[in-house]
Amino acid sequence: MNNYRWPLIQNNINEADKTALVKHIMTSDRFTQGEKVKQFEKAWSQWLGVKHSIFLSSGSAANFLTMSALRDIAGTGEVILPPLTWVSDVVSVIENGFTPVFVDINAETLALDYEGIRKAITPKTKAVFLTHILGLNGVDKKILDLLKSRNIPLIEDACESHGAMYGKKKVGSLGFASNFSFYYGHHMTTIEGGMVSTNDPKFAQLIRIKRGHGLLRESTAPEELQEFLGNSKGVYKEFDFPVVGFNFRNNELGAVLGINQLKRLDKNNVQRNVRLLRFLKQLNRKKYFTDYNVKGSSSYALLLQLRAEHAHLKPQVEQVLNHLGVEYRRGMSGGGNQTRQGFLKTRGIKLDPTDYVNTEQIHHNGFYLGNFPGLPLKWIDELCKALNEVGE
Ligand SMILES: Cc1ncc(COP(=O)(O)O)c(C=O)c1O
Repeated sequence: MNNYRWPLIQNNINEADKTALVKHIMTSDRFTQGEKVKQFEKAWSQWLGVKHSIFLSSGSAANFLTMSALRDIAGTGEVILPPLTWVSDVVSVIENGFTPVFVDINAETLALDYEGIRKAITPKTKAVFLTHILGLNGVDKKILDLLKSRNIPLIEDACESHGAMYGKKKVGSLGFASNFSFYYGHHMTTIEGGMVSTNDPKFAQLIRIKRGHGLLRESTAPEELQEFLGNSKGVYKEFDFPVVGFNFRNNELGAVLGINQLKRLDKNNVQRNVRLLRFLKQLNRKKYFTDYNVKGSSSYALLLQLRAEHAHLKPQVEQVLNHLGVEYRRGMSGGGNQTRQGFLKTRGIKLDPTDYVNTEQIHHNGFYLGNFPGLPLKWIDELCKALNEVGE
């Protein structure tokens, strides 16, 4: 653990989780992917409101397999994505042969902006890969209608937004497929872990195969997949690799944790939201941007953003956070504007980061701070008071 008084996350694995793990260890001889993984996938699908889920080794693996399977189904082309996202979203797009088309975010949702998406769609667009940021829902009716009318699949990265709602539906159930992360610091954890969820049976089968090296015998219905499979010649049935695959499996212990953690996810999210709303309500709106679209939010973290005209106060804001022992991240999700990152150049992609004005504002003036169930409310009040005094 770290030395922060107020860390990004606290006690994300509790006594009940430990008891469940010990029970499994003492009563089962199965640790590699098996029945518990299936149980967790089923419970997750039911909770999310989708038909199929595939438990993986990480959220990045979920991003990567989704893009790899999209390529099998649709071929390469353009994928629209935001510059405010996690690095693995961008890498997944590029390394699977797609051209990334970056579109700026909406200031209130922190996710892809409708107008930007509309203008960026071309006949080559294969998907819109939208990231729900830090517990906010990033989708609205206009975006959903637009993509439906243009027949473009929506892929949701909900790695930071477990349980966030769009109306009565959970984010991650709104598009063609979605990705979740269960890394330690997230809404719920399997230590390392991720999930792909979808209502499309063929896509689900494809992800299952690709999770396990691309082995055909990982599929429960290979006949349904014929149109996407290559033609292996003279190979052994047990070793037929008709698609590009990886080893992105998780295991029974991760699934035991997942099953147990899912039971308290919704209750925890209520607590998280109470804290986010209390924080935003108290901040001085002249200095800090607080007009996020928090409807249906599941609050991953507390969102702190200096308005551009108060950017000079950033060192003082950091001083307050350090003084109060608050762990924070600059640039919000993934460190801010991904188009600034050096790896893009190694793949021949040159972009002007300042083209993405709203993302740049977050990059320079945004922070996220720890939010977790049990975070004392009076700490939030104390912090807001100190933040409001900055520059006075
Ligand atoms: C939006 C988003 N996508 C993907 C990931 C990758 O998840 P993981 O760390 O489980 O690989 C993260 C990680 O935090 C994330 O925030």
